[in-house]
Amino acid sequence: MTSPFMWYLNRGTGVVLLGLLSMTTVLGILATGRQFSARWPRFVTQGLHRALAGLSVALLLVHIVTAVVDEYVDIRWWQALVPFGGTYKPLWLGLGALALDLLIAVVITSLLRDRISPRLWFVVHLLAYAAWAVSVVHGLGIGSDSRRDWMVSLTLVCVSMVGAGALGRLGLGVAGWWQRRSIGGWP
Ligand code: HEM
Repeated sequence: MTSPFMWYLNRGTGVVLLGLLSMTTVLGILATGRQFSARWPRFVTQGLHRALAGLSVALLLVHIVTAVVDEYVDIRWWQALVPFGGTYKPLWLGLGALALDLLIAVVITSLLRDRISPRLWFVVHLLAYAAWAVSVVHGLGIGSDSRRDWMVSLTLVCVSMVGAGALGRLGLGVAGWWQRRSIGGWP
């Protein structure tokens, strides 16, 4: 099947996904911080993080299905999962597949969180940063809109948001490590 509708839906979901995944990542970072109050408790941030993550997964499914079903370009099902095996813009499509694989690992370990070690969950969850970064490059490389002013602005906002959040999180992590080390509570 080929129709402009499928193509527009693929592009549209790609753009919204970029924003949603970035917000999900920032909310995940905020949910681990300590800036909470009675009016904005931690569970609200965690709930929003999970809700946006769920919405992103649903949208990602639509993004992939529209890319595969639209026969205007040749993208097979397996090429959405196996990085670097495709024929259509193989590098950029492969990065999308890689982002998907990383996200699948993050989602599965999150669903099994109560049954696996917290350390394993945490290490795999860190892959969400890589998935986000790889998907940004995928969008920039393959997107029909990636050179338009509004898309460049959206990408810059997303990169700044996640970059600032990740740097803040790293700073807090180092400060916490330093504090534990100075009071002799580490390792
Ligand atoms: C986390 C994973 C992904 C994210 C966040 C994402 C995001 C994006 C973004 C932002 C665009 C650019 C849209 C535009 O400029 O109009 C795009 C385009 C595209 N994506 Fe993805 N994508 C992901 C995974 C995938 C996967 C696994 C496939 C494989 C089927 C795929 C196929 C495509 C295609 C074919 C386009 C080009 C649409 C066009 O012609 O403009 N994406 N994606």
